[in-house]
Parts: sequence; structure tokens; C-alpha cells
Amino acid sequence: TTSTVAAAPEDPLFGLMKAYREDPSDKKVDLGIGAYRDNNAKPWVLPVVKKADDAIHNDPTVNHEYLSIGGLPDLTAAAQKLIVGADSPAIKEKRICTLQTISGTGAVHLGGLFLAKFHPQKPTIYLSNPTWANHHQIFSNVGLNIATYPYFSTKTKGLDFDGMMQSIKNAPNGSVILLHACAHNPTGVDPTQDQWREIAAAMRERSHFPFFDTAYQGFASGDLNKDAWSIRYFIEQGFELCVAQSFAKNFGLYGERTGAFHFVSAPGADASTANAHVASQLAILQRSEISNPPAYGARIASRILNDPVLFKEWEDDLRTMSGRILEMRAGLRERLEKKGTPGNWDHITSQIGMFSFTGLSEAQVKTLRSKWHVYMTKNGRISMAGLNTNNIDYFAEAVDSVVRE
Ligand code: LMR
Repeated sequence: TTSTVAAAPEDPLFGLMKAYREDPSDKKVDLGIGAYRDNNAKPWVLPVVKKADDAIHNDPTVNHEYLSIGGLPDLTAAAQKLIVGADSPAIKEKRICTLQTISGTGAVHLGGLFLAKFHPQKPTIYLSNPTWANHHQIFSNVGLNIATYPYFSTKTKGLDFDGMMQSIKNAPNGSVILLHACAHNPTGVDPTQDQWREIAAAMRERSHFPFFDTAYQGFASGDLNKDAWSIRYFIEQGFELCVAQSFAKNFGLYGERTGAFHFVSAPGADASTANAHVASQLAILQRSEISNPPAYGARIASRILNDPVLFKEWEDDLRTMSGRILEMRAGLRERLEKKGTPGNWDHITSQIGMFSFTGLSEAQVKTLRSKWHVYMTKNGRISMAGLNTNNIDYFAEAVDSVVRE
């Protein structure tokens, strides 16, 4: 009976969002959830998204029929090209398949479910420590074994590259390694291209399977190709791999749940047949879980990706978002350095993407919330987009104060 069901804790991130909303202070600052905000701390509808949206509303051929199980074909084809590159050998050799998913979360889940069912031995998936908290829940829900690899050095506030490499080398052959393609969540710390090369070589040596999660393509650096480099490099190296792709952040389509899952088979004579088999099994899994994915966000993203004029405007919008975040990084670092706030703040500008892993302790995070009405996750992560020219002085003052306490 239901009396055996124990109460579960509230989701920490959504709990934080609720606490922020309920705080009556007019000084409050929301640095919690990873969602872009404009300089007035308001959600931003990308101008290009508004355009595509208007076009859809004026299009008499649009209806509310089901999409196919794999989603909107115009979207999945464009999503594929966007992430692996239009001239990718995986596309030319027909060894990549793509299903539209319920954003990045749905893609991670579909990939996890597929591996749990079809991987020849029950694999262990290695997650970076730390990683997006939901990774742990999603992969344990589908019954995969979970292990972690070191990622963040609290000393340098950068990558613990040696620790990461050791774990990759020590993991049993054929393990699944989850990699953030760019703008690592929650740390904002990415490997350099040389480090990626070493990671790939070590994974090849152990026949590990790369599982890429990409939620910040174009959002991180403002350059869509640069932010996809790691994935394209692994494909060039001939890996069999998969990619969970989210369009929540780079299109600002958070609530529309738009994303894709890609499975790339290793090159070889049977590659395209093998890939078609994978695609057919993914379709069965998708049908049993969601039947078919939602249409609205897919139509918006598809219009933009398939229209060269809109695509260019999207790139401008991406640069607007990444540019404002870079300004906030520079501004925060400058303010803390000017105040002489104890500690080194280089990492604020060397980290990239939506988040900065400030190095603030759990106790400091608590004081920031109780005394200053500043909301951030207890691991010291801040969503950079929550800062703006109206609150950055206040936030710097708050950080300076708690660090000195
Ligand atoms: C975040 O980490 O804040 C975002 O990716 C939002 C989420 O769903 O957790």
C-alpha cells in the first residue's frame, strides 16, 4: 500500500528557485538555476525565436498532429549537422542516427536506457565529480552502475586532469564515460584541446564508450563549431559514441523540451546496417516511453536551423548571451580584486559557460542566503546569467563580506 512510500526530499535546484520567489526582499539575487537572464534579470526570448514563432503562428499548414516516433525529420537532420558538422564522416557513411527527445534530460535518459538494455555486459558509467546532479538520478533509474572520476581541483579551481586520466586508465575495459562536450556543469571548467586528445587516446586504449552531454553549444564561446570540437574530434578518431543534445539554453527554449539523441557507430563495412539496427531499437524504447516527442519547440528550432538568414540571426543572439556573461565574469573578478577580497579570483574568468564554481564554502553560501538574500546552490555554483549591471556591485560586496567573516 501507499503507506510504505517514504517522503522524498524536494529537488534542491527547484527548491532553491521556490525559496527565491518567496523571499520578499527587494535586494534578492537569483544565481540558482542555469537559465539565461537579460540585464534586467528577466528571461530572454531570443529575437530569432520570436520571429520563428510568429512565422509558425501565421503558417496555415501547421496543425496539431503527432510527430513521428523519431521526431520532426527537419529538426533531427539539422541537429545532426549542427553537432557533428555537415561534412562529418558519420553522416557521409550513414552511421549516425538521431531521435528528437524531451530536451537534454530525455536524451540522457534514452541513451542510458539503451545502454542498460543493449550493452553486452552491464557497464559502469563514470560521471565527473562533480556533475549535473540529475545525471546520477537518471542513470541509476535505468539500472546502470555509477562510478565517478575526479574532475575539479579545489586547489587550482581548474581541471584535475591527472585524477581524471588515472580514473579513465583504471576503469574496467569498455566502461561508459560521461563527458560534458563544453561548458561543464557545474564547474565551468573544460579540458583544453590537447587534454581532450589525451583523454581520447586513454579511452581508446581501454575501449571505453564516450557518452557526450552537450547543452551549451554556441552558448559557451559564441562559436558553434568551437563548442562542438570535442565531439567532432572523437568521431574523427573513429569512436562509437552517443550524444545527448539540449536546445534549452542555446535557443532559450527551456520549457519547450527540445533536444536530440544521436548514436554514432564506429566506421567499418557494417557500420550503416549496425546503426540502422540501433535506430530501430531506440524507436521502440522511445515509443514505449513518450510515444513521440513534442512538436512546438522542434518547429521553432527547425525553422531557425534550416533557414540561412535566421541561422545568422541566431548566431548573433548566441553572441549576445555569451558576450553578456563574459562581461559579468570580467566585472565580478575586477570588483573582487579591487576590494582585495582574500583569495585568488582568476577562475571567474577562466571558467566558461553558464556557471562559475566560485569555491565558496557551504557555510558561506548559507550566509549569502540568510544575510544577503543571494540564492545559489550549496556547492558554490553561481549561474553567471543571474548577474547584471544592477546587482553585480551588491553581489561583490556580499562575497567580500562572507569571505572575510
Ligand atoms: C541547471 O543545472 O541549473 C540546469 O541545467 C537546469 C536543470 O534542469 O537542472
